[in-house]
Amino acid sequence: MIYDSKVENHYLLKAIETIKRQIIIISHDYKILASNCNPNREYFLNRNSKEGEICYHALFKFDSPCQNCPATEVKKTGKPSLKRIVIDDDINCNSNSNICSCLYAYPMAASDSDVGIEEDAIVVLDFDLPSLFTCDEKRVTSDAFLRNLINSAADGVIASDMKGKIIIFNKAATEISGYSRQEAIESLNIRDIYPPGDAQKIMKKMRSNEYGGKGLLKAYKQVAVRKDGTVTPIILNASIVYEGDKEVASIGFFHDLREAKRLEAEIEKMQIQLLQAEKMSSLGKLAAGVAHQLNNPLGGITLFTQLMLEEYDLSSDAKDDLLKIQRDAERCSAIVKELLEFARQTKRELKLQNINKIVGRTLFLLRNQSIFQNIKIIENYDPAIPEILVDIQQLNHVFMNIILNAADAMEGSGSLEIKTFLNGNDNMVHITISDTGHGIPDSILPNIFEPFFTTKEEGKGTGLGLSMAYGIVESHQGKITAENKHEGGSIFHINLPLKKEDEESKS
Ligand SMILES: Nc1ncnc2c1ncn2[C@@H]1O[C@H](COP(=O)(O)OP(=O)(O)OP(=O)(O)O)[C@@H](O)[C@H]1O
Ligand SMILES: [Mg+2]
Repeated sequence: MIYDSKVENHYLLKAIETIKRQIIIISHDYKILASNCNPNREYFLNRNSKEGEICYHALFKFDSPCQNCPATEVKKTGKPSLKRIVIDDDINCNSNSNICSCLYAYPMAASDSDVGIEEDAIVVLDFDLPSLFTCDEKRVTSDAFLRNLINSAADGVIASDMKGKIIIFNKAATEISGYSRQEAIESLNIRDIYPPGDAQKIMKKMRSNEYGGKGLLKAYKQVAVRKDGTVTPIILNASIVYEGDKEVASIGFFHDLREAKRLEAEIEKMQIQLLQAEKMSSLGKLAAGVAHQLNNPLGGITLFTQLMLEEYDLSSDAKDDLLKIQRDAERCSAIVKELLEFARQTKRELKLQNINKIVGRTLFLLRNQSIFQNIKIIENYDPAIPEILVDIQQLNHVFMNIILNAADAMEGSGSLEIKTFLNGNDNMVHITISDTGHGIPDSILPNIFEPFFTTKEEGKGTGLGLSMAYGIVESHQGKITAENKHEGGSIFHINLPLKKEDEESKS
């Protein structure tokens, strides 16, 4: 076929005319210089629009260029541009017009003196790519969803590339490690999360087959090093991410064990307390039984010693010996009496009482004793404490024992502070008795509430004071604990439940 430019131009024009795309050529001031007629794109140039009209008006009835116009971009940059144009329903007849079309624009050097054209133009093509944008949007949405998913996971999620650079670091990871997300992404290496050498060991384990399969490490007990140098115990589930056979990243799920460990410790403490309570109760029963058995023979010893002293003419040495026997027997009787008192199962007399008054009364009885002469007594009572249901005699006993112990520990000088207060909403009255004495050695702290536990020299203590206090406070559904203070001396905490008046009758 012979090349004929006229024929070629004819075909080209026909091709442009019949293409199912709108093609518009506009000037730099948005005037339509030429356009094809596209019946499939009615919403575009309507058939009546003419060359010379302003494109945004002819197309969309706008008074100014469209917001996302690619031609404007071409004017600015001189480079081709692809943009999406969204057209409102009321402007166009297309009912489905949320996404109307994509426009592609490119600059065209059109000036030609032969045909008298002086200015260059911009070609605008409608480009049916909304689906491309929709895909893109879907991807962005699903990326955001995944990010959200990872970020809100309860376990720490940390991923790194093969050099150890952190690429994912979720919120739980910030709590486990103490690093912010930004710090982690910008400057942290995965090796810093583990104690020295552990990151390599973990990679080695993942590469072997023995910990859940190749590339996997399952339920591995580990510690994570926090920013402040302390460690967080964790369970680590980790894997290597492969592209084909190539390792490209690793990802770890860090399950924080701190709360579980705290609960474990609490349960252990409760078990010890339970054991302690059981031990105390059986020891108490045993003691009471023994005391009961001893009571009669002791009475006999005292009585017959007295008779011998009265009825026989004895040498003074023999009299002295008998007096010693009598004194020791009396001491034994006193201990037995205390023991029986300790184990007494009599019904408590519960009455609504003001705890500040009970403590004050105990102090009143004690403060004039010589042992308190050089002891400063600080009383700090919360007047807002309501009356609570207690047995006043028993509580006197408790406070008396603790205060006398404190005085013993201070060996005559120091200060004794007694506080009563309410603490938030725990429904308890708190009483603390603290001293500036020698404190309780840590080795005996767990034993001080046991019956007969004493560090006092023979004849000075029976070791029943605190065990009695323990029993009384427990029977009031309260709690008694002791600890040493940082600054020296010890402090006893007694908590008693607040009870409503209408409960009085039930007790
Ligand atoms: N405030 C305190 N400071 C230091 N140690 C104390 C204190 N209170 C109690 N202890 C220690 O606890 C032990 C037990 O006290 P507990 O009151 O049960 O018996 P005790 O005082 O030795 O004898 P008693 O039966 O005469 O009270 C004491 O021997 C002492 O070692
Ligand atoms: Mg005591």
